[in-house]
Amino acid sequence: MNQNRENWGSRLGVILAVAGSAVGLGNFLVFPGRVAANGGAAFLIPYFIAFVIIGIPLAWMEWSLGRRGGKVGHGTGPGILNTVVDHPVAKYLGSLGVIGPLLIFFFYIYIESWLLGFIWYAITGELSRAAIGADSMAGFLGDYLSGAKKIAQIPSHLLFFVITFFLNFLIIWFGVRRGIERSAKILMPLLLILGAILMIRVLTLPGIGEGLGFLWNPDFSRLGDVDVWFAATTQIFFTLSVGIGTILTYASYVKPKQDIALSSLTANATNELVEVIIGGTLVIPAAIALLGSVASADIAKAGVVDLGFITMPLIFSKMGEIVGYILQIFWFVLLFIGGLTSSVSILQPGISFLEDELRMDRKSSIAVLGAITMFFTLLVIWGFNAGAADEIDLWGFQFTLLLFGTIEAIVFSWVLGVPEGIKELLEGAEITIAKPFIFIMKYVTPTFLLGLLILWFTNGGGMDKILLKGVESVPVTLLGGVHTTNIAFIWGFRLSLLALFAALNLTIFTAWRNRTPAQLLEVEDEFN
Ligand code: ALA
Repeated sequence: MNQNRENWGSRLGVILAVAGSAVGLGNFLVFPGRVAANGGAAFLIPYFIAFVIIGIPLAWMEWSLGRRGGKVGHGTGPGILNTVVDHPVAKYLGSLGVIGPLLIFFFYIYIESWLLGFIWYAITGELSRAAIGADSMAGFLGDYLSGAKKIAQIPSHLLFFVITFFLNFLIIWFGVRRGIERSAKILMPLLLILGAILMIRVLTLPGIGEGLGFLWNPDFSRLGDVDVWFAATTQIFFTLSVGIGTILTYASYVKPKQDIALSSLTANATNELVEVIIGGTLVIPAAIALLGSVASADIAKAGVVDLGFITMPLIFSKMGEIVGYILQIFWFVLLFIGGLTSSVSILQPGISFLEDELRMDRKSSIAVLGAITMFFTLLVIWGFNAGAADEIDLWGFQFTLLLFGTIEAIVFSWVLGVPEGIKELLEGAEITIAKPFIFIMKYVTPTFLLGLLILWFTNGGGMDKILLKGVESVPVTLLGGVHTTNIAFIWGFRLSLLALFAALNLTIFTAWRNRTPAQLLEVEDEFN
């Protein structure tokens, strides 16, 4: 066992780090878009049901399994599932908890880097100059992404990507306590302050009643639509960072007898407050208040990217020169902080895997993970429009997340068993778990997730997406030239992801084959 494994320095530190992982782009951009598209306030019904029967229980399960694994030196899916499930295949199933966050990272880090770019252009004033109309803002974003915008001859989207990438690895380099925890302690309060300032400004806009009404007017007829329930559940997964593997890893660094039950609830509650109160106030209500209800159809249709990067600068341009200039910077800093504290959490499982299972030191694990993530993110950037973004959405944000979450719930409830799992959860706990939750964890969460997984393949269109139904080859720009490579690109991209997954599992195979009998016995000694 790795005797030098780190611990979090304080309880507040780990809560802020987990809340940092949870609060991200999902809260400020994805949530309001989903509310608008899925019945307004009526959406909160499936959303909070999913929070109670999946979000809270699954987070508790991950905290428990994670801390349990950490006691015997394992911080990721392969090692953790192997300590609980007495079958050689468990560690390979656990590999989903390492590949899942990586897939998300390949995409998330790129979007996060746009935010840094936009902070820069907000400071230089270029953004305010572009925000005179929707077309010029769309042109600005287009120029940024195509590389037409340059700084010192370097396409600025690449420059800011590289800076963001290094910033993430810098935090990881300092480790769990001095990197992730310390940065969360500074950044999370800052995020809350910025969020509160922006929210107060928006709530005092003259037309805000109409804006809030537009977003939150309940349409209960939508509750009969299975897609609405699906959107609510996937939102809960993504926003709480459960099913990804990150909480599992963060919890493995919690000290053995430190509370996890209340810490998990506190982090989840923080996320929900930020999501529903701040996320549900800013983007769409502000847009309706300032751009008027004529724009409402466009706003409702606008995707996450348009809302954050095009609509918001337009909104700030209507708030007065100085105030708009400052709040615009605040907005992109808020999103960047949310992104950064989430992206380091989705990097950490990769680092923990290399350190715990392959016994690499920090320098080597950063070098290996840095090379892998750089390669794949560049591939995503290169083939963004050729299908890479959709593929990451499919495999990272939907398939792996749902599958791994289901596996975790089954392992906790039906393999480890709820009594043993709850015993772990309550070790050092400052609260008790109410009886209904024990019932939910035992029966409802795993069954609901299994059902959802099946539904995803069938009604949710998962199988169609895997088989690329309805996807056609269209001309796309790759490396400056126009090629008709959409489908070819997608299959090539899939093969490269599959190769990564195969390499990961080969590594797991080799790591376990090389374990000495004494190392294998460590686990049994701890728990028997
Ligand atoms: N939970 C993170 C977010 O909402 C990943 O962005």
